[in-house]
Amino acid sequence: MIPQITVLDVGGQYCHLIARKVRDLGVYAEVAASDTPAAELKGRKGIIISGGPASVYDPSSPTIDAAVLASGIPVLGICYGQQLMAHLLGGKVEKGERGEYGFAQMEPVKTDSLLRGVSGKQQVWMSHRDQVATPPEGFDVIASTATCKAAAIADPKRGLYAVQFHPEVVHTACGPQILENFVMQIAGCVKDWDPAGQLAAVEDQIRHAAAGRNVFFFVSGGVDSTVAYTLCLKALGADRVHGTYVDTGLMREGETEFVRENFSGLGAKSFEVEDAREQFLNALEGLTAPEAKRHAIGEEFVRVQQRILESEHYLDGQWVLGQGTIYPDTIESGGTAKADLIKTHHNRVAGIQKLIDEGKIVEPLASFYKDEVRAVGRQIGLPDALLDRHPFPGPGLAIRCLCSEESGVAEVMPEGWKLPVRSVGVQGDSRTYRAALAIPEFPASDEEAASLINRMENINRIVVKVWTADEMTKMQAVPSFLTGERLDRLRHADAIVRKITLESGFDNDVWQFPVVLIPFGTPGRPDSVVLRPIYSVDGMTASAVRMPDALLAQIVIELRAVTGVGGVFYDITNKPPATIEWE
Ligand code: XMP
Repeated sequence: MIPQITVLDVGGQYCHLIARKVRDLGVYAEVAASDTPAAELKGRKGIIISGGPASVYDPSSPTIDAAVLASGIPVLGICYGQQLMAHLLGGKVEKGERGEYGFAQMEPVKTDSLLRGVSGKQQVWMSHRDQVATPPEGFDVIASTATCKAAAIADPKRGLYAVQFHPEVVHTACGPQILENFVMQIAGCVKDWDPAGQLAAVEDQIRHAAAGRNVFFFVSGGVDSTVAYTLCLKALGADRVHGTYVDTGLMREGETEFVRENFSGLGAKSFEVEDAREQFLNALEGLTAPEAKRHAIGEEFVRVQQRILESEHYLDGQWVLGQGTIYPDTIESGGTAKADLIKTHHNRVAGIQKLIDEGKIVEPLASFYKDEVRAVGRQIGLPDALLDRHPFPGPGLAIRCLCSEESGVAEVMPEGWKLPVRSVGVQGDSRTYRAALAIPEFPASDEEAASLINRMENINRIVVKVWTADEMTKMQAVPSFLTGERLDRLRHADAIVRKITLESGFDNDVWQFPVVLIPFGTPGRPDSVVLRPIYSVDGMTASAVRMPDALLAQIVIELRAVTGVGGVFYDITNKPPATIEWE
């Protein structure tokens, strides 16, 4: 099928998401390499240039065939795509005085078909530092934000449009309207794609990838692996699909029992639980760097798989590994040509990559996002108890239990305290590993929180200090690792928070609620707990959610009673600039 819209990939975290949002409009779209020659794009009705982590002035930065911009086909540039378009057409791009990450207010300043139906101030989602300072000749500025004058520019005569913000992410409320304006009105596409009709194609793909072999599946009890596993059962039949749940010791309280109870009803003939707690703990011993922890876990899964496959039951060699990988796992793992590595998902480590190269992996959901996975799950009749669970990452509590080899104290800042703890973020499509800032009170508004972080260098998260066992300047970080004791502490804290939020119904108001343990406390209470309730739809962008004060007070009372817990903090950072998990 020839796509009506091609998205040129210059390395953006959201490149594939753009194509998906176009397909959601009922128009077939595909992603292509940024340097695809204009001649190969003949027949497209519109072209979109994605965002990316590079700067146009960097000599190695990705570019496009400039002839694309003169082909007469309407083009929409997004973020880096806007900067690239401006740069190639003689405009000027420069480093902004400060970055703009997450929430921003955009206001249309000129009527234009790209912004049809969009009026007044609009919440848009940004992730950039560079910006267009002078648009190329023929372009008008059609919308601005406080820090970015050229938030949207247009040259309707040439059919060229560009925006600095991200219309493809859920947090840009007017994004669907803007994409629809470009795709349907400006590019003149017609509907040729049914977003809901993909189930049969997925089952065909499973049969094709399995190629007569059987599928051995690791299930975690989470939504992705449950849906992928059930799709395999449907496509191949119960005789050809085997499921194993690995108890890594990194799971939440009660998880193994939940999986045992719920998986018996899915129609499988063989389902087993493998106890590998000691094996995983040993593999993680002494590690502190987030990526090192992730690699160790991924490779340990490969070892468990080999051990099981080499057991008598599977000796015929006719088995391939099934995984519930979804698209964000690939993109964040730096798995497309030019995207930056944000974090390596457990199902994208070297050992798994080798199996992929050998054609020994089946991943039915590899091009789907979380919300689509849930929709597929409902289509195939999976119960809500399984589908409505909050996402839980494959590497489990290991990435929510922060480790550090360093000692340190909080540094007093004009705004609060810089914590001696670093976590992973995503700013301007690049990975960051920076300190968190603790502030004494909740800011008055979301805008205030966003502008605070945009002003600060070397910070990618802001937390509110809710309670500490001692004064902040007396709290300290000491070398801390992934031990059974710390994992139990986190599991206990997580169970307390989960129980209270489930009972109060707050659980339904958030998409995910990581509870994180950071090595920051007092000699007797060496760790603090960070609460991270967020709202999202697909995990690609997220906004922090504030819980009612009374609920927070109740949680703090119970957490204070947990042995070893010396503080409670509340993460109020959006994604970007932070990521959802701390690592
Ligand atoms: P971040 O922290 O990157 O997370 O903003 C986005 C979403 O992905 C989940 N996540 C993972 N899920 N394996 C998974 O199955 C992983 O390695 C992994 N890492 C992050 C995270 O919980 C959030 O929902």
